[in-house]
Amino acid sequence: MKAIAVLPGKPGSVHLAELAKPSVSDVPSGRGVLVKVLRVGVDGTDREINAAEYGAAPEGYDFLIIGHEGFGQVEAVGPNVSFLRPGDFVVATVRRPGKSLYDAIGLQDMTTDSEYFERGINLRHGYLTEYYIEDEEFVVKIPQGLKEVGVLLEPMTVAQKGITQAYEIQRRMKVWRPRKAAVMGAGTLGLLATLVLRLRGLDVTTFGRTPKPYLNADLLDAIGARYVNTAERSITDAATEFGPFDLIFEGTGSSAVVFESMQVLGKNGVLVLTSITGGNHKLEVPADRINLDFVLGNKVMVGSVNASRDNFETGVRDMSQAEAEYPGWLRQLLTHPVRGLDGYRELFDRLQNPNGAIKIFCEVS
Ligand code: BGC
Ligand code: ZN
Repeated sequence: MKAIAVLPGKPGSVHLAELAKPSVSDVPSGRGVLVKVLRVGVDGTDREINAAEYGAAPEGYDFLIIGHEGFGQVEAVGPNVSFLRPGDFVVATVRRPGKSLYDAIGLQDMTTDSEYFERGINLRHGYLTEYYIEDEEFVVKIPQGLKEVGVLLEPMTVAQKGITQAYEIQRRMKVWRPRKAAVMGAGTLGLLATLVLRLRGLDVTTFGRTPKPYLNADLLDAIGARYVNTAERSITDAATEFGPFDLIFEGTGSSAVVFESMQVLGKNGVLVLTSITGGNHKLEVPADRINLDFVLGNKVMVGSVNASRDNFETGVRDMSQAEAEYPGWLRQLLTHPVRGLDGYRELFDRLQNPNGAIKIFCEVS
């Protein structure tokens, strides 16, 4: 069968690889699930892996099959699989356990190991292939009614984890009634984070760098959030009108925005950081001022990466609620389908030059 792969360490090496179709008997526990891949989303991570910024091949291979936003259908199950049946729609999680205590309790997204295993990213093959095999433990069922949008679940879980963490942390307040939130970044992640916060009833201001008319701004409007273009209005200025923010979700990829976010966080507020900033930027900031406001305002800042199985399950619930509250909205994020694994060049050209794309994805089958 075919797969889209890179040679880690070699920039621009994306190519079509050929390998044997897996089988449920490859999983000795009998808990193997064979999944026929239907769609796989791509994002900045795939672009950065192909640019050789990070990413590693599994042991015994010189290539890495990429793709971590999978969606597929169960084709066969091993004898000890209990919950999944052939025909079920599924999404598999991304990170696999290492050795720390957190990995042992299913929270490998919280690993304290220095090495981590992520399908399609680091040391494990991903989903841009025709079939994959996985232990039932890492496979999450998607209801029939979400099959059109199931490919959005993985990016959804990144928003889901960050926001769930924020609420967990805020239990320190005994009574926490967040009213206003800000989301930094209006791409796929920013839109999904805004959705999750709107479903929780918050007033949300989402910041981006693109002027209107802008599809993403219309989509924000459709779920009752407001869009602010930072080229027209600074974050600080908008915060005086729409803040103070009880919760800020940051996912722009720019550490400068992180420090601006720290300055517009409200008292007792929580700032969630999710940007993978691989660069080496230096910045001058009003350090005393930021520190003083954090201390006097009892503020919290938390980093969040990847997601646990639990975040996938609550992600499915939020997507169902979104379909009920804003029917057809999720579907509109799927702007750029690319047909077949053979279309890998087009897939990467698009990623290089997104030109208004929200979610770029491969229609594998
Ligand atoms: C993925 C996460 C992953 C992170 C770091 C993101 O693109 O969506 O699941 O943990 O990259 O590798
Ligand atoms: Zn991703």
